[in-house]
Amino acid sequence: MAVSALTENLKNGGVGRDIPQNPLTREVSRSITHQRSSFSYSTSPEAARHRPSFHESGSPFLIRTMTGAAPKKLQPFREQDIKILLLENVNKTGQDVLREQGYQVEALKSSLPEDQLIEKIKDVHVLGIRSKTKLNSRVLAAAKNLIVVGCFCIGTNQVDLKYAADHGICVFNSPFSNSRSVAELIIAEIICLARQLGDRSNEMHQGIWNKVSAKCWEVRGKTLGIVGYGHIGSQLSVLTESMGMRVIYYDVVNLMSMGTAHQVSSLDELLKGADFVTCHVPELPETKNMISTKEFEQMKQGSYLINASRGSVVDIPALIEAMKSGKIAGAALDVYPSEPAGNGDYFTNDLNSWAEDLRRLKNIILTPHIGGSTEEAQSAIGVEVAESLVRYVNEGVTIGAVNMPEVTLRSLTMDEPDHARVIFIHQNVPGVLGRVNKVLSDHNVDKQMSDSRGDMAYMMADISNVKQAEIDTLYRDLEGLKERIITRILY
Ligand SMILES: NC(=O)c1ccc[n+]([C@@H]2O[C@H](COP(=O)([O-])OP(=O)(O)OC[C@H]3O[C@@H](n4cnc5c(N)ncnc54)[C@H](O)[C@@H]3O)[C@@H](O)[C@H]2O)c1
Repeated sequence: MAVSALTENLKNGGVGRDIPQNPLTREVSRSITHQRSSFSYSTSPEAARHRPSFHESGSPFLIRTMTGAAPKKLQPFREQDIKILLLENVNKTGQDVLREQGYQVEALKSSLPEDQLIEKIKDVHVLGIRSKTKLNSRVLAAAKNLIVVGCFCIGTNQVDLKYAADHGICVFNSPFSNSRSVAELIIAEIICLARQLGDRSNEMHQGIWNKVSAKCWEVRGKTLGIVGYGHIGSQLSVLTESMGMRVIYYDVVNLMSMGTAHQVSSLDELLKGADFVTCHVPELPETKNMISTKEFEQMKQGSYLINASRGSVVDIPALIEAMKSGKIAGAALDVYPSEPAGNGDYFTNDLNSWAEDLRRLKNIILTPHIGGSTEEAQSAIGVEVAESLVRYVNEGVTIGAVNMPEVTLRSLTMDEPDHARVIFIHQNVPGVLGRVNKVLSDHNVDKQMSDSRGDMAYMMADISNVKQAEIDTLYRDLEGLKERIITRILY
């Protein structure tokens, strides 16, 4: 085990962090052992297009090397030095990925009150949370050693992302691990709506035998119109084609179809041609009420609407009118403009003024935002976020970060023993890179990438022929630049 200053992740000065007494005495492990997750989980084939994950031999970002030599595992600290606090019962799959790295992992089942949290995170390097833990500026300011936060969930509203970025704390989440779960829910809903299963089941629960076939349909041969052909939309496309449905889709981006699905050129064309319309777009100003009175008028008589995207996408009072008039034969909603924070009898007019009108409609499936709520999705989220954390801690790679520019470099290899990776998170002002490169100029900069996002920027460079003794000077010189937010050197 080598002793050097290579691995310090010190934050101080302008960002209110303490400088450790003797940052240069930490030991670093330069173990080359590859410890990888052995978990397998189902995820969208499309997701792989956007968000790679580790596989047997390492991250796809990291295994491509010029020489073909094995990638070198960089380690910023002696393994046991990385302190990780996981709150809110993070899935075991994620905990295991982190423990496999040799990090010190403490996992708590619940969130913590703010003052306890502040006390608890004083010396952690990595924090894992779900949706209940609020990381405001007061809490983040107390975490002097924090370099990265993993949100083991979809949303990141609970974190002050700007404050985190300005203080060099990278934030990751897992937006696409539940795509398959949502797609499968939509499959169920298409068939349930076509057969009026919700109503028949409710009637039976009330003791009513009502055997009908009028306006009950097979889905085979019907047309599904998918609005938004991203992770969920494209999964759904494959699944529904295998049930004999014809698939058309509308997306603002020109996208290659799965199977024999066909992209149409406008929302109007989709609405006119589909028996079932299902929305899978993000929440944006241009998707607000994108299905409203005019769109319902364009839809086929007796067609169906499904929305499991965001509550703002469908104008629900307009849907109520379209269903009352018989234009729309059924609907399934999983998301609403206002949703309660916890479980209970909250789905009333107090929450959304039309809730009780909606509840009275026939052939409408109402679910409490459960599209992505499966055991598989939780497990996949655990692995995906944990792997992002490992990549960030060990390699400095920010791909998938929600508050920092996405920066990666080809992996260092075992053929490059005297290389070091320099990461310099800094204020995005003119002249910084010139000063950084002056510091690096005694070495050969093999590769370098820099990108900015708002007020901050992220620079990563691999430099060669670095003697261990020189790392100390490099580190100190970079720390001395006034624009610096965080310096990390991995070896
Ligand atoms: N119900 C749930 O539990 C649940 C779970 C996961 C995701 N979601 C939501 O589902 C939606 C889709 O998720 P995803 O992972 O497939 O997203 P995605 O980003 O992979 O795909 C969204 C697609 O919509 C397209 N798009 C954007 N604006 C558009 C517009 N104005 N018109 C047409 N297409 C447009 C994009 O080009 C993209 O292809 C999101 O709103 C997400 O928040 C809900």
